[in-house]
Amino acid sequence: MNAREKEAYLREYSILKSQGKPFFPYSVAKDGLMAVVVMASIIGMSLLFGAELGPKADPTTTTYTPRPEWYFFFLFEVLRVIKPPSLTPLASIGVPTICMILLFLLPFYDRGPERRPERRPIAMAAGLFTIAAMAFLTYEGAIAGSPNQVDMEAPAAVAAAGGETLRQWESGKQVVAQSGCLACHKIGHNGGVLGPDLTEIGSAASRASLARVLVNPTQPMPEYSALSESKRDDLVEFLAQLKTGSH
Ligand code: HEC
Repeated sequence: MNAREKEAYLREYSILKSQGKPFFPYSVAKDGLMAVVVMASIIGMSLLFGAELGPKADPTTTTYTPRPEWYFFFLFEVLRVIKPPSLTPLASIGVPTICMILLFLLPFYDRGPERRPERRPIAMAAGLFTIAAMAFLTYEGAIAGSPNQVDMEAPAAVAAAGGETLRQWESGKQVVAQSGCLACHKIGHNGGVLGPDLTEIGSAASRASLARVLVNPTQPMPEYSALSESKRDDLVEFLAQLKTGSH
């Protein structure tokens, strides 16, 4: 802002100020009235409709899918996409904090006097990009499946075989999801870090040894002898198809 612009601004400001009304009591009264209306509406709605309670909590459920409120879907999605645990703090705390600080410091680093959107291409582009990115991540977070789900296409050989082979693959994948294997094992880009990576286990272990691990595992892996025979067969078939270079 140069000296002339500054003078023009100060003149305009003093004219507006001489015409205006003081903050107290005019604005305070207006804001106070609005606050009373909002509070009264909330009280009225809670008296009329009550508060909704979800179904009773069931501590024994194994199918519960934890999900955040919709306005956190974008963060939820960022966490889903960024898998390495070492990067999780950066994604969940670092990036949003940096964005908040940048927003907070905006008046200090953006000193441009322009206010028309078309004359502020960088600010507009950054703003639109942020809105678009958050909308996209919110949408992706909203349609995301359970964190236990194995997000993986059937290998070409399985897809080509079709029939029983494909059914066993899909069913075995389901058993993995329901059994919580991903809490420890990594399969493709899904799951954890505690146990060995199973992405290529089909090339390393025979069907017989895979079946043996399930009923006679090494600690801390739990045993899965309670699985029905057909589920165990499907699970072993699924694992056996996880071959090097098949996906
Ligand atoms: C609590 C964590 C945990 C869970 C849950 C778990 N595992 Fe494991 N699993 C392990 C660990 C740790 C090992 C390595 C044991 C060892 O040192 O031999 C292992 C080993 C294995 C192996 C042998 C890997 C190899 O390289 O030989 C297979 C196969 C396997 N698990 C499959 C499964 C399947 C399938 C499930 C779900 C039905 C499952 N695991 C659930 C922790 C787990």
